[in-house]
Amino acid sequence: MRFLLTEGPSGADNVQIEQTEQPALEIAADALAVGIFDGEPLSGAAAAVDAELKGAIGQLIERQEFAGKAYETAPLLVPVGKAKQVLLVGLGKRDKFDAGMAYRASATAVRALTGKKRELAALFLDDGWKPELTESGLAGAIVGSEGQDLYRAEKKRHPLGTLIWPTNNKEAIASGRIIGEAVNLARHLVNSPAEDIYPETFADKAAEVAKASGLEIEIWDEKRLEKERCGSLLAVAKGSHRPARLVILKYSGGKPGAPTLGIVGKGVTFDSGGLSLKPSEGMLTMKCDKAGACTMLAAMQAIAALKLPVNVIGFAGLVENMTGPAAMKLGDVLTARSGRTIEVHNTDAEGRLVLADVLNVALEKGASQIVDLATLTGACVVALGTEVAGAMTNNQPLCDRVLAAAKVTGEPLWQLPMFPEVYDDLIKSEVADIKNVGEGRWGGAITAAKFLEQFVGDTPWVHLDIAGPAFRDKPKPWSDAGGSGQFVRTLVELARGWNA
Ligand code: BES
Ligand code: MN
Ligand code: ZN
Repeated sequence: MRFLLTEGPSGADNVQIEQTEQPALEIAADALAVGIFDGEPLSGAAAAVDAELKGAIGQLIERQEFAGKAYETAPLLVPVGKAKQVLLVGLGKRDKFDAGMAYRASATAVRALTGKKRELAALFLDDGWKPELTESGLAGAIVGSEGQDLYRAEKKRHPLGTLIWPTNNKEAIASGRIIGEAVNLARHLVNSPAEDIYPETFADKAAEVAKASGLEIEIWDEKRLEKERCGSLLAVAKGSHRPARLVILKYSGGKPGAPTLGIVGKGVTFDSGGLSLKPSEGMLTMKCDKAGACTMLAAMQAIAALKLPVNVIGFAGLVENMTGPAAMKLGDVLTARSGRTIEVHNTDAEGRLVLADVLNVALEKGASQIVDLATLTGACVVALGTEVAGAMTNNQPLCDRVLAAAKVTGEPLWQLPMFPEVYDDLIKSEVADIKNVGEGRWGGAITAAKFLEQFVGDTPWVHLDIAGPAFRDKPKPWSDAGGSGQFVRTLVELARGWNA
């Protein structure tokens, strides 16, 4: 017996997911994937395949052809049972196996399976996993079937028609699908070039998501932003012929008056650097500079679809940083919405100028705690590498909650210090209240956070600098290159525990 659980909306997300309690070898799959732990006897579907093949997998392991290391895969191109072929998938050490690993192992398997056109795949990694593992695994499977080649005639990934999963946990499958599709939404938007997604079209997309998800939405256009005195955000937008937008999305699943989580995303749809122009190599991937806003939008979609009992408001500050005739200039002094004046020392430090005003709006709209996400500094990538995001905060308990959520989802996040006596002086200006860069380039991720801190008052706030992990130049076993959708899952996890 197999049960049809859910059917997705479109494209790669359109895969049908079926839950089964049938033994693996009785499914007439085009490919059957089985999981193998490193250094352990075969179990579950892998043991069944091994028995059917008269111990062939055990012999492969003995000859050290395959060990079951994390992300290791090996195809067995022969029919086994009713399956036309088998894929061995390494799960790593059992004591290291958690929700993050379930996500990445499943994504690895589906990435391998979708390299060719296959209609029916059975993913038998789930060996009686706990619900949170099944959920993460299913999310990973959805993410693993989509790549960044939006404009290739011949796609690298071929979406499956049907994916069969051995569980009777319908809830975990349904929520895993919601989360995986949200991650893919973020990736798709990040991967869309600046001529497709710019402030106005991002706002249109947000309106579409809001309508489908039952979110309240407000879109501030350039006139409204002017009226609202968003002088810092608008100064960045002036260099482009594309007008700025501010998107506000509201989800009220919690009690009225309950603490409201504010999620603020940097949405620079293209960052040329402005007059402080980036070199070509640095500019090439700057369509990714809207990743914070994409992550916010995707998380809001998932939080609404999961019907979480929380109040969340999302904000996206949307501009294009260009060099047009009206572009802001070095030495300009801007007046932010909060009234603070900012001396511009580098037009490429534009993200903090955008966020200064968006954070101020978030306070006014009633966010009682704020998490912002921004591809803010190359310095953060220098400090932590490309896979790890930096967390900076004015409130340790809130930061601890965000770090805990990231640990659950397995999205690497590391806190950087904010010592006032060390860093506060570095953004002082001789001309205005503050300047938009630190003294020299040292500690650049932190001086950027120090700038943002000026605009959140006493409200608990965590800043996530996702400049490294938001966009990959090279693929990983579990992910194609391009937008990663990293931190959508952490935001969902944070919202889940919000009232706890
Ligand atoms: N969007 C960039 C940061 C970035 C770099 C994101 C690499 C993703 C990958 C940001 O606007 C920027 O240009 N920051 C400057 C700040 C500097 C001028 C103080 C930087 O990091 O060089
Ligand atoms: Mn920049
Ligand atoms: Zn930027």
